[in-house]
Amino acid sequence: MATEKHFKYVVLGGGVSGGYAAREFVKQGVQPGELAIISKEAVAPYERPALSKAYLFPQNPARLPGFHVCVGSGGERLLPEWYSEKGIELILSTEIVKADLASKTLTSAAGATFTYEILLIATGSSVIKLSDFGTPGADSNNILYLREVDDADKLYAAIQAKKGGKAVVVGGGYIGLELSAVLKMNNLDVTMVFPEPWCMPRLFTAEIAAFYESYYTNKGVKIVKGTVAVGFDADANGDVTAVKLKDGSVLEADIVVVGVGGRPLTTLFKGQVAEEKGGIKTDASFETSVPGVYAVGDVATFPMKIYNDVRRVEHVDHSRKSAEQAVKAIKGKEAGEAVAEYDYLPYFYSRSFDLSWQFYGDNVGETVLFGDSDPSSAKPKFGSYWINDGKVLGAFLEGGSPDENSAIAKVAKAQPAVGSLEELKKEGLQFASKI
Ligand code: FDA
Ligand code: NAD
Repeated sequence: MATEKHFKYVVLGGGVSGGYAAREFVKQGVQPGELAIISKEAVAPYERPALSKAYLFPQNPARLPGFHVCVGSGGERLLPEWYSEKGIELILSTEIVKADLASKTLTSAAGATFTYEILLIATGSSVIKLSDFGTPGADSNNILYLREVDDADKLYAAIQAKKGGKAVVVGGGYIGLELSAVLKMNNLDVTMVFPEPWCMPRLFTAEIAAFYESYYTNKGVKIVKGTVAVGFDADANGDVTAVKLKDGSVLEADIVVVGVGGRPLTTLFKGQVAEEKGGIKTDASFETSVPGVYAVGDVATFPMKIYNDVRRVEHVDHSRKSAEQAVKAIKGKEAGEAVAEYDYLPYFYSRSFDLSWQFYGDNVGETVLFGDSDPSSAKPKFGSYWINDGKVLGAFLEGGSPDENSAIAKVAKAQPAVGSLEELKKEGLQFASKI
């Protein structure tokens, strides 16, 4: 007979937000048996960013249990035993296929039902697949995506099986840049393909992108811009052999990695909660339009106080902090105590090869590039400010020290006025360090 279980609190999704929510529930006080985390993945919450970086390193790759949350933010590593010690039920390998918010019931693919008083939706994103667009041959073997640890295992196995072979990376965003680097580190012959005039157009200016593109080219990564993959060839075993591009050219391939964006996993709740900007709309406590139902991480469209706007953010810092905020709000409400408003400063980062950048704030307005952005320098260090209405709103820094990264965070938060852009360019990092 299918099981039925009841919990006071259910977190749906055992990813980054799920793990940080569990830690915050324990900090705030939770009784054994009150909290369950339900996850489709077979492992306890972990720091997802490791999957596109150290997990795929040719030497000493990171493996679980090494990167369970909350090590990514310098916190305690929550091993599966931690959850049982705290009386938290970790319900793994369990996909919820139906959510009925009116009856407060979740139903799993195996037919188990879970009822709750408070629900925290932390389902994250799924990858957009080329087969979603009907691209011919997109179902061939070795056309791979990366979201969960199982995907990373498949990718790792393909890298081992195709040593010295050819890899094509489709997409010029975060996955595209991080995967091209790690595949190159594994000695594959790598070509990146993306439709835009420069990589990471969601964030990078043409000048910033020019640095990374030259650095990657110097490392031997080939870059094909302004076109897309329109089809794939496969051999008699169904293994991919080539990528056909819209411009008519064909790239040989033993492995294809596709990173063409994510889609927030909100489908279970369609028609049951208010949505905005592709996510589940929440208030500043991450409570949705349905009382007692909260949404955090990639799926939440929340009030971003600093810009007097509502936004959705697909980055790890926000997934951690939104989860903590929601749990504080849940427990605060029970205790009749007000919780400090969520005042989030956007923070994104990436690492590849020997490079490491951080960005804080908003990338709108005019830009000023500063520092040494010569890709052949021994230790390039450069940055960019975004200036809107005479104020610095965003700051980017490649190669910064922890103090320098804190300085650009401060400048993005303080939004100081700027007199002359020329002066700002000359001052460069000094401008941020003075704040
Ligand atoms: P997350 O995806 O972490 O967790 C969602 C969980 O819900 C998963 O375990 C999923 O299986 C589960 N789930 C979904 N639907 C379910 C259902 N119906 N039933 C049961 N379980 C379900 N960001 C950054 O700032 N810096 C970085 O370097 C990186 N690097 C990076 C690498 C890779 C490979 C990816 C995919 C993403 C990043 N990110 C990142 C983005 C960051 O990891 C992301 O924003 C957070 O993981 C979002 O946290 P969530 O908890 O919202 O979703
Ligand atoms: P993305 O949105 O960063 O980039 C997608 C890229 O694919 C864009 O350049 C886009 O124009 C391009 N593209 C779209 N359609 C294409 C097509 N048909 N052919 C070729 N290129 C096409 O998304 P992503 O890189 O796939 O990342 C997925 C998710 O994982 C995002 O939420 C991202 O934030 C997250 N992530 C973040 C980090 C980080 O913050 N360091 C690292 C990895 C992943």
